[in-house]
Amino acid sequence: MDGETLAISGLEVAIPTRGGFLKAVRGVDLRVGKGETVALVGESGCGKTLTALSILSLVPKPAKITGGSIFLDGVDAGALDNNGLGALRGRGAGMVFQEPMTSLNPVFTVGFQLAEAVNPLGKMAKGEVRARSVELLREVGIPEPEKRLAAYPHELSGGLRQRVMIACAIAQNPPLVIADEPTTALDVTVEAQVMELFADLAQKRRISLLLITHDLGVVERYADRVYVMYSGLVVEEGSAESVFTKPAHPYTKGLLRSIPRRGEPLTPIRGTVPPLCGELSACPFAPRCDFVSKTCLEGVPQLLEGENGRKCRCVRGFADV
Ligand SMILES: Nc1ncnc2c1ncn2[C@@H]1O[C@H](COP(=O)(O)OP(=O)(O)O)[C@@H](O)[C@H]1O
Ligand SMILES: [Mg+2]
Repeated sequence: MDGETLAISGLEVAIPTRGGFLKAVRGVDLRVGKGETVALVGESGCGKTLTALSILSLVPKPAKITGGSIFLDGVDAGALDNNGLGALRGRGAGMVFQEPMTSLNPVFTVGFQLAEAVNPLGKMAKGEVRARSVELLREVGIPEPEKRLAAYPHELSGGLRQRVMIACAIAQNPPLVIADEPTTALDVTVEAQVMELFADLAQKRRISLLLITHDLGVVERYADRVYVMYSGLVVEEGSAESVFTKPAHPYTKGLLRSIPRRGEPLTPIRGTVPPLCGELSACPFAPRCDFVSKTCLEGVPQLLEGENGRKCRCVRGFADV
């Protein structure tokens, strides 16, 4: 696992439903190197959040991890007891979610919540916790940090709330930060500022970042590598640059076409994501694919390896690359 902050292998997450097991994550392999920013993209419902929550065993019931392994900074997360998991959640990885109002508790001050993150075991002296909290708020670019400690989440703007979340996430200096749609609730200028902050932290602290987003502009600009998910499967991976300039999978091509560019109409991918229950007997993208052939319906395509770490789960392989 040398040089790797996160190594997910064969991850499966299932949710029992009346219609059978909904397989939300179907054998995902995902790696994040030290200091690397990796993006995970794909339409809503493809399994991104459950993949992220699995890393810290935070998958909400009734969903359940049913297979695979997760190593975080060399530690086998699946083998930890509750104490070990508790430590991993602070020191192993910090998490930042979409809407900080739901992850920051509205009834506690910023200072109180930051203190929990800075001093989870309650062993540090009060003055030390305060000093460290102020230092963290300053590091994430919050003006007048001493004053902000007494503020309640609703008294801050969305952008500042998100900065507080980021301060909490990095409080224990974890090697990995997992950010799930961290800027979706923010407007464009604030989004850019928050992304610049992530990029800054990644560089200065050598933090690895797993960035879940549906904003391909953000991926293109900030990610080193990208994984594209569809129906619980990774369908394409590679350096952000190569995937963006030469997408191999028809789904990735469709996603890139759906980015609105100035003066161009948006081209949505036709059709919708198929239901996730039971085993797949064909390529899940086949019903929406412009290149569909008989082979696509004969089984789930393998994730084929191309050049320079590129992978693509399509029977056409890298035909157009
Ligand atoms: N707690 C849950 N109960 C039932 N279904 C869930 C639950 N969490 C997620 N799902 C389903 O699992 C699939 C993947 O969800 P999720 O990982 O949240 O997708 P994404 O983050 O890519 O939008 C979706 O079909 C979603 O409806
Ligand atoms: Mg999600």
